[in-house]
Amino acid sequence: MAEEKKHNKLTTASGRVYVENENSKTVGPKGPILLEDYILHEKMAHFNRERIPERVVHAKGSGAYGTFTVTNDITQYTKAKLFNKVGKKTRIFARFSTVGGEKGSADTERDPRGFAIKFYTEDGNWDLVGNNTPVFFVKDPKKFGDFIHTQKRDPYTNCKSATMMWDFWSLNPESLHQVLILMSDRGTPDGYRHMDGFGSHTFSMINAKNERVYVKYHFKTAQGIKNFTDEEAAQMKAKDMDYAQRDLLESIDQGNYPKWNLKIQVMTVEQSKKVDFNPFDLTKVWPHAEFPLIDVGVMELHQNPDNYFQDVEQAAFAPAHVVDGLGYSPDKMLQGRLLSYPDAHRYRLGANYEQIPVNRCPYAVNNYQRDGAMRIDGNGGRQPNYWPNSFDDIKVDESYREPSEQLEDTIADWYDRNSKIGDNDHYSQPRALFRDVMTQEEQDNTIKNVINAMSGISGPKRDEIVNRQLCHWFRMDEEFGSRVAGGLGVDVNSVMESMGFSH
Ligand code: HEM
Repeated sequence: MAEEKKHNKLTTASGRVYVENENSKTVGPKGPILLEDYILHEKMAHFNRERIPERVVHAKGSGAYGTFTVTNDITQYTKAKLFNKVGKKTRIFARFSTVGGEKGSADTERDPRGFAIKFYTEDGNWDLVGNNTPVFFVKDPKKFGDFIHTQKRDPYTNCKSATMMWDFWSLNPESLHQVLILMSDRGTPDGYRHMDGFGSHTFSMINAKNERVYVKYHFKTAQGIKNFTDEEAAQMKAKDMDYAQRDLLESIDQGNYPKWNLKIQVMTVEQSKKVDFNPFDLTKVWPHAEFPLIDVGVMELHQNPDNYFQDVEQAAFAPAHVVDGLGYSPDKMLQGRLLSYPDAHRYRLGANYEQIPVNRCPYAVNNYQRDGAMRIDGNGGRQPNYWPNSFDDIKVDESYREPSEQLEDTIADWYDRNSKIGDNDHYSQPRALFRDVMTQEEQDNTIKNVINAMSGISGPKRDEIVNRQLCHWFRMDEEFGSRVAGGLGVDVNSVMESMGFSH
Protein backbone atom coordinates (compact mmCIF):
# COMPACT_ATOMS: atom_id res chain seq x y z
CA MET A 1 0.00 0.00 0.00
CA ALA A 2 1.25 3.48 -0.83
CA GLU A 3 2.43 5.61 2.07
CA GLU A 4 -0.69 7.31 3.47
CA LYS A 5 -0.67 11.07 3.59
CA LYS A 6 -1.17 12.21 7.19
CA HIS A 7 -3.02 15.37 8.13
CA ASN A 8 -4.23 16.75 11.42
CA LYS A 9 -7.86 17.45 10.59
CA LEU A 10 -10.67 16.10 12.79
CA THR A 11 -11.95 12.79 11.38
CA THR A 12 -14.35 9.92 12.05
CA ALA A 13 -12.91 6.51 12.92
CA SER A 14 -12.92 5.69 9.20
CA GLY A 15 -10.95 8.84 8.39
CA ARG A 16 -13.69 11.08 6.98
CA VAL A 17 -12.89 14.71 7.74
CA TYR A 18 -15.80 16.35 9.52
CA VAL A 19 -16.61 19.72 10.97
CA GLU A 20 -19.38 19.62 13.56
CA ASN A 21 -18.12 18.02 16.77
CA GLU A 22 -20.48 19.84 19.14
CA ASN A 23 -23.82 20.42 17.36
CA SER A 24 -25.98 17.53 16.14
CA LYS A 25 -27.86 17.91 12.86
CA THR A 26 -31.47 18.81 13.67
CA VAL A 27 -34.77 19.63 11.99
CA GLY A 28 -34.70 23.32 12.71
CA PRO A 29 -32.69 24.82 15.57
CA LYS A 30 -34.82 23.18 18.29
CA GLY A 31 -34.58 19.63 16.96
CA PRO A 32 -35.36 16.72 16.84
CA ILE A 33 -32.07 15.14 15.76
CA LEU A 34 -31.75 13.51 12.36
CA LEU A 35 -30.81 9.83 12.21
CA GLU A 36 -28.36 10.64 9.43
CA ASP A 37 -25.94 12.34 11.87
CA TYR A 38 -24.02 9.10 12.14
CA ILE A 39 -21.06 10.95 13.62
CA LEU A 40 -23.17 11.52 16.73
CA HIS A 41 -24.03 7.82 16.73
CA GLU A 42 -20.38 6.80 16.28
CA LYS A 43 -19.25 9.04 19.16
CA MET A 44 -21.92 7.70 21.51
CA ALA A 45 -21.54 4.08 20.45
CA HIS A 46 -17.77 4.02 20.94
CA PHE A 47 -18.12 5.71 24.31
CA ASN A 48 -20.55 2.99 25.40
CA ARG A 49 -17.90 0.40 24.65
CA GLU A 50 -14.94 2.03 26.41
CA ARG A 51 -14.91 -0.27 29.43
CA ILE A 52 -13.55 -3.77 29.34
CA PRO A 53 -14.15 -6.18 32.23
CA GLU A 54 -11.85 -5.25 35.08
CA ARG A 55 -9.57 -7.98 36.43
CA VAL A 56 -11.62 -10.21 38.74
CA VAL A 57 -8.83 -9.68 41.31
CA HIS A 58 -5.97 -7.15 41.28
CA ALA A 59 -8.20 -4.66 39.41
CA LYS A 60 -6.47 -1.53 40.73
CA GLY A 61 -2.87 -1.26 39.59
CA SER A 62 0.02 0.74 38.19
CA GLY A 63 2.61 -0.23 35.59
CA ALA A 64 5.90 0.83 34.05
CA TYR A 65 8.55 -0.37 31.63
CA GLY A 66 12.15 -0.97 32.58
CA THR A 67 15.12 -3.28 32.33
CA PHE A 68 16.43 -6.32 34.11
CA THR A 69 20.24 -6.58 34.26
CA VAL A 70 22.13 -9.73 35.27
CA THR A 71 24.73 -9.06 37.98
CA ASN A 72 25.69 -12.60 38.99
CA ASP A 73 26.26 -15.80 36.99
CA ILE A 74 23.56 -18.41 37.69
CA THR A 75 24.14 -20.49 34.55
CA GLN A 76 24.92 -23.50 36.78
CA TYR A 77 21.17 -23.52 37.56
CA THR A 78 19.54 -22.30 34.36
CA LYS A 79 20.12 -22.14 30.62
CA ALA A 80 17.45 -19.39 30.30
CA LYS A 81 18.98 -16.95 27.83
CA LEU A 82 18.02 -13.86 29.82
CA PHE A 83 20.43 -15.05 32.54
CA ASN A 84 23.24 -16.25 30.25
CA LYS A 85 25.73 -13.40 30.76
CA VAL A 86 26.58 -10.98 33.53
CA GLY A 87 25.62 -7.53 32.25
CA LYS A 88 22.87 -8.83 29.95
CA LYS A 89 19.82 -6.54 29.82
CA THR A 90 16.24 -7.58 29.14
CA ARG A 91 13.32 -5.20 28.62
CA ILE A 92 10.51 -5.69 31.13
CA PHE A 93 7.05 -4.41 31.99
CA ALA A 94 5.95 -4.46 35.65
CA ARG A 95 2.49 -4.03 37.15
CA PHE A 96 1.78 -3.61 40.85
CA SER A 97 -1.71 -3.84 42.30
CA THR A 98 -3.97 -4.27 45.27
CA VAL A 99 -6.05 -7.46 45.28
CA GLY A 100 -9.58 -7.15 46.61
CA GLY A 101 -10.66 -3.65 45.54
CA GLU A 102 -12.26 -2.54 42.31
CA LYS A 103 -10.50 -0.47 39.65
CA GLY A 104 -11.48 2.74 41.45
CA SER A 105 -10.59 1.60 44.97
CA ALA A 106 -7.96 3.13 47.25
CA ASP A 107 -4.28 2.27 46.86
CA THR A 108 -3.71 2.19 50.60
CA GLU A 109 -6.15 -0.57 51.57
CA ARG A 110 -4.89 -3.34 53.87
CA ASP A 111 -4.30 -6.03 51.25
CA PRO A 112 -1.46 -8.01 49.69
CA ARG A 113 0.10 -6.22 46.71
CA GLY A 114 0.50 -7.85 43.31
CA PHE A 115 4.02 -7.83 41.87
CA ALA A 116 3.86 -8.95 38.21
CA ILE A 117 6.74 -8.73 35.75
CA LYS A 118 6.87 -9.53 32.07
CA PHE A 119 10.38 -10.19 30.73
CA TYR A 120 10.57 -9.80 26.92
CA THR A 121 13.22 -12.49 26.35
CA GLU A 122 14.52 -13.75 23.00
CA ASP A 123 12.95 -17.14 23.81
CA GLY A 124 9.50 -15.64 24.43
CA ASN A 125 7.88 -13.65 27.20
CA TRP A 126 8.43 -14.86 30.75
CA ASP A 127 5.81 -13.69 33.26
CA LEU A 128 6.54 -13.82 36.97
CA VAL A 129 3.19 -13.06 38.59
CA GLY A 130 3.84 -12.74 42.29
CA ASN A 131 2.89 -10.77 45.36
CA ASN A 132 4.68 -8.70 48.00
CA THR A 133 4.43 -11.68 50.34
CA PRO A 134 6.24 -15.04 50.11
CA VAL A 135 3.15 -17.09 51.06
CA PHE A 136 -0.58 -17.20 50.33
CA PHE A 137 -3.90 -17.78 52.14
CA VAL A 138 -4.76 -21.19 50.69
CA LYS A 139 -2.85 -24.13 49.29
CA ASP A 140 -5.28 -25.61 46.77
CA PRO A 141 -6.66 -23.71 43.76
CA LYS A 142 -10.16 -25.09 44.45
CA LYS A 143 -10.28 -22.77 47.44
CA PHE A 144 -9.29 -19.57 45.60
CA GLY A 145 -12.75 -18.44 44.43
CA ASP A 146 -14.30 -18.96 47.86
CA PHE A 147 -11.47 -17.09 49.52
CA ILE A 148 -11.70 -14.14 47.11
CA HIS A 149 -15.48 -13.87 47.63
CA THR A 150 -14.75 -13.13 51.28
CA GLN A 151 -12.45 -10.25 50.27
CA LYS A 152 -15.05 -8.69 47.98
CA ARG A 153 -18.51 -7.33 48.77
CA ASP A 154 -21.25 -9.05 50.75
CA PRO A 155 -24.01 -10.15 48.34
CA TYR A 156 -26.71 -8.45 50.43
CA THR A 157 -25.11 -5.33 51.89
CA ASN A 158 -22.77 -4.75 48.91
CA CYS A 159 -20.19 -3.70 51.50
CA LYS A 160 -16.89 -5.28 52.52
CA SER A 161 -17.45 -7.63 55.43
CA ALA A 162 -15.07 -8.37 58.30
CA THR A 163 -17.45 -11.20 59.19
CA MET A 164 -16.95 -12.97 55.87
CA MET A 165 -13.17 -12.50 56.00
CA TRP A 166 -12.71 -13.78 59.55
CA ASP A 167 -15.29 -16.52 59.07
CA PHE A 168 -13.21 -17.88 56.20
CA TRP A 169 -9.85 -17.42 57.92
CA SER A 170 -11.05 -18.98 61.17
CA LEU A 171 -12.33 -21.98 59.20
CA ASN A 172 -9.06 -22.29 57.25
CA PRO A 173 -6.08 -22.40 59.58
CA GLU A 174 -3.73 -22.73 56.57
CA SER A 175 -4.34 -18.99 56.07
CA LEU A 176 -2.72 -17.97 59.35
CA HIS A 177 0.80 -17.31 58.05
CA GLN A 178 -0.45 -14.94 55.33
CA VAL A 179 -3.06 -13.37 57.65
CA LEU A 180 -0.31 -12.51 60.13
CA ILE A 181 1.73 -10.77 57.41
CA LEU A 182 -1.40 -8.99 56.16
CA MET A 183 -2.22 -7.72 59.64
CA SER A 184 1.33 -6.40 60.15
CA ASP A 185 2.24 -3.00 58.73
CA ARG A 186 3.43 -4.83 55.59
CA GLY A 187 -0.30 -5.08 54.82
CA THR A 188 -0.28 -1.32 54.16
CA PRO A 189 2.93 -0.56 52.22
CA ASP A 190 3.90 3.04 51.50
CA GLY A 191 3.30 2.90 47.74
CA TYR A 192 4.76 0.30 45.44
CA ARG A 193 8.41 1.38 45.49
CA HIS A 194 9.05 0.48 49.13
CA MET A 195 7.97 -3.16 49.15
CA ASP A 196 9.64 -6.44 48.26
CA GLY A 197 8.27 -8.82 45.65
CA PHE A 198 8.14 -12.62 45.64
CA GLY A 199 7.42 -15.25 43.02
CA SER A 200 5.90 -16.97 46.09
CA HIS A 201 5.53 -20.39 44.45
CA THR A 202 8.32 -22.88 43.99
CA PHE A 203 9.46 -22.90 40.36
CA SER A 204 12.06 -24.94 38.42
CA MET A 205 15.30 -23.92 36.81
CA ILE A 206 16.91 -26.23 34.24
CA ASN A 207 20.55 -25.93 33.21
CA ALA A 208 22.38 -26.76 29.98
CA LYS A 209 22.89 -30.34 31.20
CA ASN A 210 19.10 -30.59 31.64
CA GLU A 211 19.48 -30.82 35.43
CA ARG A 212 16.56 -29.42 37.40
CA VAL A 213 16.62 -27.48 40.64
CA TYR A 214 13.71 -25.86 42.44
CA VAL A 215 13.83 -22.10 43.11
CA LYS A 216 12.01 -19.30 44.92
CA TYR A 217 12.29 -15.73 43.57
CA HIS A 218 12.78 -12.70 45.85
CA PHE A 219 12.84 -9.06 44.70
CA LYS A 220 14.37 -6.86 47.41
CA THR A 221 13.48 -3.18 47.16
CA ALA A 222 16.54 -0.95 46.83
CA GLN A 223 14.43 1.93 48.20
CA GLY A 224 14.10 0.21 51.58
CA ILE A 225 10.90 -1.16 53.11
CA LYS A 226 8.47 1.58 54.16
CA ASN A 227 4.96 0.93 55.43
CA PHE A 228 2.04 3.00 56.64
CA THR A 229 0.56 2.38 60.04
CA ASP A 230 -3.16 1.61 60.04
CA GLU A 231 -3.93 5.26 60.86
CA GLU A 232 -1.57 6.65 58.23
CA ALA A 233 -3.09 4.38 55.59
CA ALA A 234 -6.60 5.55 56.53
CA GLN A 235 -5.51 9.21 56.40
CA MET A 236 -3.89 8.71 53.00
CA LYS A 237 -7.04 7.02 51.72
CA ALA A 238 -9.01 10.14 52.64
CA LYS A 239 -6.40 12.39 51.04
CA ASP A 240 -5.39 10.52 47.87
CA MET A 241 -7.08 7.32 46.67
CA ASP A 242 -4.40 6.97 43.98
CA TYR A 243 -1.39 7.48 46.23
CA ALA A 244 0.65 4.53 44.93
CA GLN A 245 -0.12 5.29 41.26
CA ARG A 246 0.92 8.94 41.69
CA ASP A 247 4.03 8.00 43.68
CA LEU A 248 5.31 5.53 41.05
CA LEU A 249 4.45 7.77 38.10
CA GLU A 250 6.01 10.92 39.56
CA SER A 251 9.10 9.14 40.78
CA ILE A 252 9.78 7.81 37.25
CA ASP A 253 8.87 11.15 35.62
CA GLN A 254 11.43 12.82 37.89
CA GLY A 255 14.16 10.38 36.88
CA ASN A 256 14.14 8.73 40.29
CA TYR A 257 14.00 5.20 38.93
CA PRO A 258 12.97 2.51 41.43
CA LYS A 259 15.07 -0.64 41.62
CA TRP A 260 14.75 -4.13 43.04
CA ASN A 261 17.50 -6.72 43.49
CA LEU A 262 16.48 -10.18 42.33
CA LYS A 263 17.72 -13.09 44.43
CA ILE A 264 16.88 -16.79 44.38
CA GLN A 265 16.78 -19.63 46.86
CA VAL A 266 17.78 -22.96 45.33
CA MET A 267 16.78 -26.49 46.40
CA THR A 268 17.98 -29.62 44.62
CA VAL A 269 15.46 -32.28 43.68
CA GLU A 270 17.16 -34.61 46.18
CA GLN A 271 16.79 -32.03 48.96
CA SER A 272 13.13 -31.52 48.03
CA LYS A 273 12.49 -35.19 48.89
CA LYS A 274 14.20 -34.93 52.27
CA VAL A 275 13.12 -31.62 53.83
CA ASP A 276 10.67 -31.99 56.71
CA PHE A 277 8.11 -29.61 55.14
CA ASN A 278 6.38 -29.70 51.76
CA PRO A 279 8.53 -27.42 49.54
CA PHE A 280 5.57 -27.05 47.15
CA ASP A 281 3.18 -25.73 49.81
CA LEU A 282 2.43 -22.07 49.13
CA THR A 283 1.63 -21.36 52.78
CA LYS A 284 5.26 -22.12 53.78
CA VAL A 285 8.59 -20.36 53.20
CA TRP A 286 11.96 -22.07 52.78
CA PRO A 287 14.24 -21.38 55.77
CA HIS A 288 16.91 -18.89 54.66
CA ALA A 289 19.60 -20.50 56.87
CA GLU A 290 19.28 -23.73 54.91
CA PHE A 291 18.52 -22.15 51.53
CA PRO A 292 20.38 -18.83 51.42
CA LEU A 293 19.59 -16.02 48.99
CA ILE A 294 21.76 -15.99 45.85
CA ASP A 295 22.17 -12.74 43.87
CA VAL A 296 20.88 -12.71 40.31
CA GLY A 297 20.37 -9.18 39.03
CA VAL A 298 18.66 -5.84 39.28
CA MET A 299 15.34 -4.63 37.92
CA GLU A 300 14.90 -0.91 37.24
CA LEU A 301 11.75 0.89 36.10
CA HIS A 302 12.43 3.94 33.98
CA GLN A 303 9.57 4.50 31.54
CA ASN A 304 5.96 5.37 32.24
CA PRO A 305 3.54 4.12 29.57
CA ASP A 306 2.19 6.98 27.45
CA ASN A 307 -1.31 5.64 27.79
CA TYR A 308 -2.56 3.83 30.89
CA PHE A 309 -5.37 1.88 29.22
CA GLN A 310 -3.24 0.76 26.28
CA ASP A 311 -0.42 -0.72 28.34
CA VAL A 312 -1.52 -1.19 31.96
CA GLU A 313 -5.19 -2.07 31.67
CA GLN A 314 -4.56 -4.34 28.69
CA ALA A 315 -1.50 -6.03 30.17
CA ALA A 316 -1.96 -9.77 30.61
CA PHE A 317 0.43 -11.75 32.83
CA ALA A 318 0.25 -15.53 33.07
CA PRO A 319 2.28 -17.83 35.35
CA ALA A 320 2.05 -20.36 32.49
CA HIS A 321 4.40 -18.18 30.43
CA VAL A 322 7.86 -19.59 31.16
CA VAL A 323 10.80 -19.85 28.76
CA ASP A 324 13.48 -22.46 28.04
CA GLY A 325 15.51 -23.05 31.21
CA LEU A 326 12.64 -22.10 33.55
CA GLY A 327 9.76 -24.33 34.60
CA TYR A 328 6.91 -25.06 36.96
CA SER A 329 6.77 -27.24 40.06
CA PRO A 330 4.17 -29.58 41.59
CA ASP A 331 2.80 -26.66 43.71
CA LYS A 332 -0.97 -27.20 43.38
CA MET A 333 -1.73 -23.48 43.49
CA LEU A 334 0.72 -22.83 40.67
CA GLN A 335 -0.82 -25.67 38.67
CA GLY A 336 -4.27 -24.10 39.09
CA ARG A 337 -2.98 -20.69 38.07
CA LEU A 338 -1.42 -22.10 34.89
CA LEU A 339 -4.94 -22.65 33.54
CA SER A 340 -6.73 -19.73 35.16
CA TYR A 341 -4.83 -16.71 33.81
CA PRO A 342 -4.92 -17.27 30.04
CA ASP A 343 -8.61 -18.16 30.51
CA ALA A 344 -9.15 -14.81 32.29
CA HIS A 345 -7.27 -13.00 29.51
CA ARG A 346 -9.37 -14.54 26.75
CA TYR A 347 -12.49 -13.40 28.59
CA ARG A 348 -11.16 -9.94 29.53
CA LEU A 349 -9.24 -9.06 26.34
CA GLY A 350 -10.26 -11.60 23.69
CA ALA A 351 -8.69 -14.57 21.96
CA ASN A 352 -5.93 -12.52 20.32
CA TYR A 353 -4.79 -10.72 23.48
CA GLU A 354 -1.18 -11.76 22.84
CA GLN A 355 -1.10 -9.36 19.89
CA ILE A 356 -1.74 -6.27 22.03
CA PRO A 357 1.60 -4.41 21.99
CA VAL A 358 2.31 -4.72 25.74
CA ASN A 359 1.70 -8.48 25.58
CA ARG A 360 3.29 -9.16 22.20
CA CYS A 361 6.55 -11.10 22.09
CA PRO A 362 8.93 -8.79 20.21
CA TYR A 363 10.82 -11.82 18.92
CA ALA A 364 9.55 -14.80 16.90
CA VAL A 365 5.96 -16.06 17.21
CA ASN A 366 5.32 -18.99 14.84
CA ASN A 367 2.30 -21.23 15.15
CA TYR A 368 -0.94 -22.31 13.53
CA GLN A 369 -3.40 -20.31 15.61
CA ARG A 370 -5.56 -18.30 13.24
CA ASP A 371 -8.53 -15.94 13.03
CA GLY A 372 -10.63 -14.82 16.00
CA ALA A 373 -11.87 -11.35 16.90
CA MET A 374 -9.45 -8.47 16.30
CA ARG A 375 -6.76 -10.51 14.55
CA ILE A 376 -4.38 -7.82 13.31
CA ASP A 377 -0.94 -9.35 12.80
CA GLY A 378 -1.38 -10.55 9.22
CA ASN A 379 -2.96 -13.81 10.43
CA GLY A 380 -0.23 -15.93 8.89
CA GLY A 381 -0.89 -14.57 5.41
CA ARG A 382 -0.83 -17.36 2.82
CA GLN A 383 1.13 -19.72 5.01
CA PRO A 384 -0.43 -23.10 5.95
CA ASN A 385 -2.69 -23.07 9.01
CA TYR A 386 -2.08 -26.68 10.05
CA TRP A 387 0.80 -28.85 11.20
CA PRO A 388 2.52 -30.99 10.09
CA ASN A 389 2.59 -29.72 6.51
CA SER A 390 4.84 -29.99 3.46
CA PHE A 391 5.16 -26.27 2.77
CA ASP A 392 6.46 -23.96 5.48
CA ASP A 393 9.78 -23.94 7.27
CA ILE A 394 8.58 -23.77 10.89
CA LYS A 395 10.74 -26.27 12.73
CA VAL A 396 10.58 -28.12 16.02
CA ASP A 397 13.89 -27.59 17.80
CA GLU A 398 14.48 -30.63 20.02
CA SER A 399 17.13 -28.78 22.02
CA TYR A 400 14.23 -26.95 23.69
CA ARG A 401 12.64 -30.16 25.00
CA GLU A 402 12.06 -29.90 28.74
CA PRO A 403 13.49 -32.85 30.69
CA SER A 404 11.09 -35.28 32.33
CA GLU A 405 10.22 -34.77 35.95
CA GLN A 406 10.61 -37.47 38.60
CA LEU A 407 7.56 -37.11 40.87
CA GLU A 408 6.78 -39.41 43.76
CA ASP A 409 7.33 -42.85 42.18
CA THR A 410 6.54 -42.07 38.55
CA ILE A 411 7.72 -39.75 35.82
CA ALA A 412 5.81 -36.88 34.21
CA ASP A 413 6.81 -36.48 30.57
CA TRP A 414 5.50 -35.99 27.04
CA TYR A 415 5.11 -39.65 26.10
CA ASP A 416 5.01 -40.44 22.37
CA ARG A 417 1.46 -41.65 21.68
CA ASN A 418 2.84 -44.04 19.04
CA SER A 419 5.88 -45.38 20.86
CA LYS A 420 4.55 -48.68 22.28
CA ILE A 421 4.27 -51.88 20.25
CA GLY A 422 0.73 -51.94 18.87
CA ASP A 423 0.26 -48.16 19.27
CA ASN A 424 2.12 -47.56 16.02
CA ASP A 425 0.27 -50.19 13.96
CA HIS A 426 -2.06 -48.04 11.85
CA TYR A 427 -2.53 -50.69 9.17
CA SER A 428 -3.84 -54.02 10.55
CA GLN A 429 -7.34 -52.84 11.43
CA PRO A 430 -7.93 -50.88 8.19
CA ARG A 431 -6.59 -53.97 6.33
CA ALA A 432 -9.08 -56.23 8.11
CA LEU A 433 -11.90 -53.74 7.44
CA PHE A 434 -11.01 -53.61 3.74
CA ARG A 435 -10.32 -57.30 3.18
CA ASP A 436 -12.65 -59.07 5.58
CA VAL A 437 -15.62 -56.78 6.15
CA MET A 438 -16.18 -54.86 2.90
CA THR A 439 -18.07 -56.51 0.05
CA GLN A 440 -16.51 -56.46 -3.42
CA GLU A 441 -18.77 -53.54 -4.34
CA GLU A 442 -17.80 -51.57 -1.22
CA GLN A 443 -14.12 -52.19 -1.95
CA ASP A 444 -14.49 -51.01 -5.55
CA ASN A 445 -16.44 -47.91 -4.52
CA THR A 446 -13.95 -47.06 -1.78
CA ILE A 447 -11.01 -47.28 -4.18
CA LYS A 448 -12.89 -45.16 -6.73
CA ASN A 449 -13.72 -42.59 -4.02
CA VAL A 450 -10.09 -42.42 -2.90
CA ILE A 451 -8.91 -41.91 -6.49
CA ASN A 452 -11.46 -39.14 -6.98
CA ALA A 453 -10.56 -37.45 -3.69
CA MET A 454 -6.79 -37.70 -4.23
CA SER A 455 -7.09 -36.38 -7.79
CA GLY A 456 -7.77 -33.01 -6.19
CA ILE A 457 -4.22 -32.77 -4.80
CA SER A 458 -2.38 -30.04 -6.71
CA GLY A 459 0.55 -27.67 -6.48
CA PRO A 460 4.31 -28.10 -6.29
CA LYS A 461 4.15 -30.76 -3.57
CA ARG A 462 1.58 -32.93 -5.38
CA ASP A 463 3.87 -35.90 -6.05
CA GLU A 464 5.35 -35.84 -2.54
CA ILE A 465 1.91 -35.85 -0.91
CA VAL A 466 0.45 -38.46 -3.31
CA ASN A 467 3.41 -40.82 -2.84
CA ARG A 468 3.37 -40.45 0.94
CA GLN A 469 -0.32 -41.37 1.05
CA LEU A 470 0.17 -44.22 -1.44
CA CYS A 471 2.76 -45.61 0.98
CA HIS A 472 0.05 -45.94 3.60
CA TRP A 473 -2.38 -47.59 1.19
CA PHE A 474 0.29 -50.09 0.11
CA ARG A 475 1.15 -50.91 3.69
CA MET A 476 -2.52 -51.55 4.34
CA ASP A 477 -3.11 -53.63 1.21
CA GLU A 478 -0.91 -53.93 -1.87
CA GLU A 479 -3.78 -54.37 -4.27
CA PHE A 480 -5.55 -51.32 -2.86
CA GLY A 481 -2.32 -49.32 -3.26
CA SER A 482 -1.75 -50.50 -6.82
CA ARG A 483 -5.27 -49.69 -7.93
CA VAL A 484 -5.21 -46.22 -6.38
CA ALA A 485 -1.78 -45.56 -7.91
CA GLY A 486 -3.05 -46.74 -11.30
CA GLY A 487 -6.11 -44.52 -11.01
CA LEU A 488 -3.91 -41.53 -10.27
CA GLY A 489 -1.54 -42.29 -13.14
CA VAL A 490 1.37 -43.01 -10.83
CA ASP A 491 4.11 -45.43 -11.90
CA VAL A 492 3.67 -48.16 -9.29
CA ASN A 493 7.12 -49.64 -9.66
CA SER A 494 8.95 -46.42 -9.02
CA VAL A 495 6.71 -45.68 -6.02
CA MET A 496 7.27 -49.19 -4.65
CA GLU A 497 11.00 -48.76 -5.07
CA SER A 498 10.97 -45.42 -3.33
CA MET A 499 9.12 -47.16 -0.46
CA GLY A 500 11.70 -49.92 -0.27
CA PHE A 501 9.32 -52.63 -1.56
CA SER A 502 10.60 -54.94 -4.29
CA HIS A 503 8.58 -57.16 -6.60
C1 HEM B 1 -5.33 -20.64 42.46
C2 HEM B 1 -4.96 -19.44 42.84
C3 HEM B 1 -5.16 -18.22 42.00
C4 HEM B 1 -6.03 -17.97 40.98
C5 HEM B 1 -7.05 -18.92 40.37
C6 HEM B 1 -5.80 -16.62 40.54
C7 HEM B 1 -6.49 -15.99 39.53
C8 HEM B 1 -6.25 -14.71 39.08
C9 HEM B 1 -6.97 -14.06 38.03
C10 HEM B 1 -8.11 -14.68 37.25
C11 HEM B 1 -6.42 -12.85 37.85
C12 HEM B 1 -6.85 -11.79 36.84
C13 HEM B 1 -6.02 -11.94 35.59
C14 HEM B 1 -6.35 -10.95 34.53
O1 HEM B 1 -7.53 -10.69 34.28
O2 HEM B 1 -5.39 -10.46 33.87
C15 HEM B 1 -5.33 -12.72 38.77
C16 HEM B 1 -4.50 -11.64 38.86
C17 HEM B 1 -3.34 -11.64 39.60
N1 HEM B 1 -2.92 -12.60 40.49
FE1 HEM B 1 -3.85 -14.31 40.92
N2 HEM B 1 -4.80 -16.08 41.28
C18 HEM B 1 -4.38 -17.02 42.19
C19 HEM B 1 -3.37 -16.89 43.12
C20 HEM B 1 -2.42 -15.91 43.09
C21 HEM B 1 -1.19 -15.93 43.84
C22 HEM B 1 -0.76 -17.05 44.77
C23 HEM B 1 -0.51 -14.80 43.49
C24 HEM B 1 0.83 -14.32 43.94
C25 HEM B 1 1.75 -15.12 44.41
C26 HEM B 1 -1.32 -14.07 42.53
C27 HEM B 1 -0.95 -12.88 41.95
C28 HEM B 1 -1.72 -12.21 41.01
C29 HEM B 1 -1.33 -10.94 40.43
C30 HEM B 1 -0.07 -10.16 40.73
C31 HEM B 1 -2.36 -10.58 39.56
C32 HEM B 1 -2.44 -9.31 38.72
C33 HEM B 1 -1.60 -9.45 37.46
C34 HEM B 1 -1.62 -8.13 36.71
O3 HEM B 1 -1.01 -7.19 37.19
O4 HEM B 1 -2.26 -8.08 35.65
N3 HEM B 1 -2.47 -14.77 42.32
N4 HEM B 1 -5.26 -13.86 39.53
